[in-house]
Amino acid sequence: MNPEAREVVVLPDAAAVARRGAEELARAAAETLRERDVFAIALAGGSTPERLFRLLGTPSAGGFRERLPWARMHFFFGDERLVPPGHAESNYRMARAAFLESVEQAGLLPSGNVHRIRGESRDAAQAAAEYEEELRIFFRPSGAEPPRFDLVLLGMGADGHTASLFPGTAALAETRRWVAANWVAKLGTHRITLTPPVLENAARVLFLVTGEEKAATLAEVLEGNVDSERLPAQRIARSSGTCQWLVDADAARDLARPRQAQGKR
Ligand code: 6PG
Repeated sequence: MNPEAREVVVLPDAAAVARRGAEELARAAAETLRERDVFAIALAGGSTPERLFRLLGTPSAGGFRERLPWARMHFFFGDERLVPPGHAESNYRMARAAFLESVEQAGLLPSGNVHRIRGESRDAAQAAAEYEEELRIFFRPSGAEPPRFDLVLLGMGADGHTASLFPGTAALAETRRWVAANWVAKLGTHRITLTPPVLENAARVLFLVTGEEKAATLAEVLEGNVDSERLPAQRIARSSGTCQWLVDADAARDLARPRQAQGKR
């Protein structure tokens, strides 16, 4: 990715990150839908995106629910835990509770526009293969090129992982498959995750990072040496089309060049 395609925006707190993230998502959807019929987004898991998701689904909370082109938006997941869709750890459950259920029940979002990973499957490889097939059906690739999401939302762990691409795990080396069942030794479980070829092919990547526990890693990822095996988030950020980081002041605490962090509006 060319450096000028990267923008780091430091915002006062997690609430401001969520608001700006919702604005960027709405802007990306509007821009895409001027040229295309549908807008395909891969949602981040974990806890950070929840505030943003709630803004999307809450009436008159910034107007996102009222103005997003829901019927032309398709929601996918960047990764999923191997748990049923109602489990507390499920990324799908979190997104459904935060906004998907509400906008579906309001008749704004057709249920067919939500593409969840079957975390309940007892066979992780099978769940990954099924999700890859769902991507193939939706994106209808002409050749071997990976799907191109219009927007991928990502978080970052304090260890530098993103989606379920954890440092030193096999999926980091995946060059062919679009979805992998990635064994994460430190968690003692498989995670289903989009692979680097898919994440690196996204038209636009939006990282959401908050909290002081991520400050040291964020400074390494943004300002340290390139070490994409140890810092998967750095790898995806450097190789994607347009990559924007929305970070709060706590997470930006260790950035040496804060001027670079002040993003344009
Ligand atoms: C997941 C996410 C993962 C997440 C980071 C940050 O399934 O957990 O995809 O990559 O974005 O772990 O998580 P928090 O937002 O909870 O800090």
